[in-house]
Amino acid sequence: MGKTVVVYRSKTGFVKKYAEWIAEDLSADLFEVSKVNPAALQNYDTIIYGGSLYATGIIGVDFLKKNLDQLMGKKVIVFACGASPSNEDLLTELITHNFTSDQQKQIKFFYLRGGFDYKKLPPFDKALMTLFKWKLLLKKGITKNLTPDDVGMLDAYKKPADFTRRSNIEEIIAYVNS
Ligand SMILES: Cc1cc2nc3c(=O)[nH]c(=O)nc-3n(C[C@H](O)[C@H](O)[C@H](O)COP(=O)(O)O)c2cc1C
Repeated sequence: MGKTVVVYRSKTGFVKKYAEWIAEDLSADLFEVSKVNPAALQNYDTIIYGGSLYATGIIGVDFLKKNLDQLMGKKVIVFACGASPSNEDLLTELITHNFTSDQQKQIKFFYLRGGFDYKKLPPFDKALMTLFKWKLLLKKGITKNLTPDDVGMLDAYKKPADFTRRSNIEEIIAYVNS
């Protein structure tokens, strides 16, 4: 199977938790993205990058995309972690939004549902998410018709929502071991 490294960027801890679980199951090295020198990726046969979703973009994934040419022939995996529930449409949207068709050939992508912890967000993200909350409240006031996901999201402002499950990483582990 060779050597595996898990590199991640996480703002409030959900990606970090998945990255730690994956590294544990695969006996892989684990690094926060700011601590990794791209040249060090050459020491590994499998490179896994994890980042959270911010407006459909995967944070920190440019680190991997910029160095993709040097990773030809290696197994390259990206996982993204957001608050939204997983479905086929979301997967397609995330892949086309984040990767060119050439990058899609080289990268195997997975989505792992994370959660939402408003209190832990940095101030700028808090401000953005407050705007989003007002948008939801406005929708509630005008249409009186929120989707179950909208309702879940509004609840998550009051208490953190955590959808992480260790079993969610099984697909990634199986793919690495295949
Ligand atoms: C400004 C902002 C934008 C976000 N955009 C998305 C999004 O487009 N899709 C999604 O599913 N989650 C979105 N989220 C939720 C985060 O991706 C989610 O909370 C994730 O689990 C955070 O993981 P982390 O704590 O490891 O960074 C957003 C959160 C913030 C603060």
